[in-house]
Amino acid sequence: MAGGWLGPRKPIGGAHDAAHGLRKTLSWPHLVALGVGAIVGTGIYTLTGVGADRAGPAVIVAFAIAGAVCAFAALAYAEMATLIPTAGGAYAYTYSVLGETLAWIVGWSLILEYSLACSTVAVGWSAYLVGWIQSLGVDLPAQLLAGPHAGGIINLPAVLVALAIAGMLIAGTRESATFNIILVAIKLTALTAFVVLALPFFDADKMTPFMPYGFGSHVEGGTTRGVMAAAAIVFFAFYGFDAVATSAEEAKNPGRDLTIGILGSMAICTLIYMLVAISAIGSVSYIDLGKSSEPLAFVLRTLGHPGAAWAIGLAALIALPSVILVMMYGQSRIFFVMARDGLLPRFLSKISPRSGAPTTITLVTGVFVALVAGFFRLDEIAELANAGTLVAFIAVAVCMMVLRRRDPDLPRVFRCPKPYLVGTLAVLGCLYLLASLPTHTLTRFAMWNVIGVAFYLAYGRARSVAARNEAAAG
Ligand code: ALA
Repeated sequence: MAGGWLGPRKPIGGAHDAAHGLRKTLSWPHLVALGVGAIVGTGIYTLTGVGADRAGPAVIVAFAIAGAVCAFAALAYAEMATLIPTAGGAYAYTYSVLGETLAWIVGWSLILEYSLACSTVAVGWSAYLVGWIQSLGVDLPAQLLAGPHAGGIINLPAVLVALAIAGMLIAGTRESATFNIILVAIKLTALTAFVVLALPFFDADKMTPFMPYGFGSHVEGGTTRGVMAAAAIVFFAFYGFDAVATSAEEAKNPGRDLTIGILGSMAICTLIYMLVAISAIGSVSYIDLGKSSEPLAFVLRTLGHPGAAWAIGLAALIALPSVILVMMYGQSRIFFVMARDGLLPRFLSKISPRSGAPTTITLVTGVFVALVAGFFRLDEIAELANAGTLVAFIAVAVCMMVLRRRDPDLPRVFRCPKPYLVGTLAVLGCLYLLASLPTHTLTRFAMWNVIGVAFYLAYGRARSVAARNEAAAG
């Protein structure tokens, strides 16, 4: 299919041949668990504190805004994922609808989403580890617990957890559905216990001033603050449902299972996040909350529940690495599909015959994730991951609307309600969040894309399988 200057388009439904397809083993409870497993992580466990620092008590509004934007994007995702049930998610939809050039840019952005989300979760995990060990009365050398931007030399625990997960994936570890359900249960039980213990301390006085830094994103005291600045960072807490879309090729009944998987996991998480955020912000001072790198444990300690603080720390330590596992696995899938399409070197997608895992690409990803986690600050990494994700979400919403117009009669298993309204709100919401990110994040994001486009022009464009097929078809 010709895509003009935007490069070739892949036909819808013909994304891969049977020999390179993945086995269909997942049904909707697996997908909801997969979604919740990938969504609940450092965002709610750690960034609640960063959000409070940026917005004050109005971090609750920031959660609501980010959740609403994600819900619109999730509806578009559900339609596209059921229409084009292939590994590759936003990259694959863009390839079929808008053409290769934009698909490449989206794929390049997804690297930020998946890889940097892993780094962010690793740094968040490290903070809980340190707090947990210190609560046992053991002091650790501070220089080895934070990167240079955060007053140390290297965040060693974050590096080690990232490398350990990469090692597990290389050895062929897959998170089994049962194991994932156990971890999801641990995470949700810990958050529920947090709400039960903290909400009774809710004090309306703690909510004033409600919006100490105003609404719009702006620089104040050297930090980008305001409700929108907080929304642009806590947005991190909501994504991961797209990991459900990336497993579309493996869903038994994609139409029903993906819809329930995406929308169900989003709904559960939004509800629990709002409750956790209200409980945290209503029970301790937002200024103290904003200073903590393990805010949920901090709240419980402050409220006189050291045992529960210890337990929630333990729950975070056990369960957060599963987010890294799912995201790193998702990254390997994206690379795999991009290499299958000829846009990345083929050797990257080579599968080890012994473990069945793409060893080289997992190793490269693991080292990249570990280096970023070791040397950068949590908020910096999360914001860049968010920039990549926002671009992917915009692409999905645009694809959904373009395809409705271009091909209204395609058999859509899930139809997004009010597609143009929902799609437009998703695009505008994502653009607003993107514009609310700090300037240095946007600059880094622009630099990342310049490198990406240069690589595409120098390498991928000439080697694209779709371009070759198009040329052969004359
Ligand atoms: N939403 C995921 C998290 O918060 C990425 O860790």
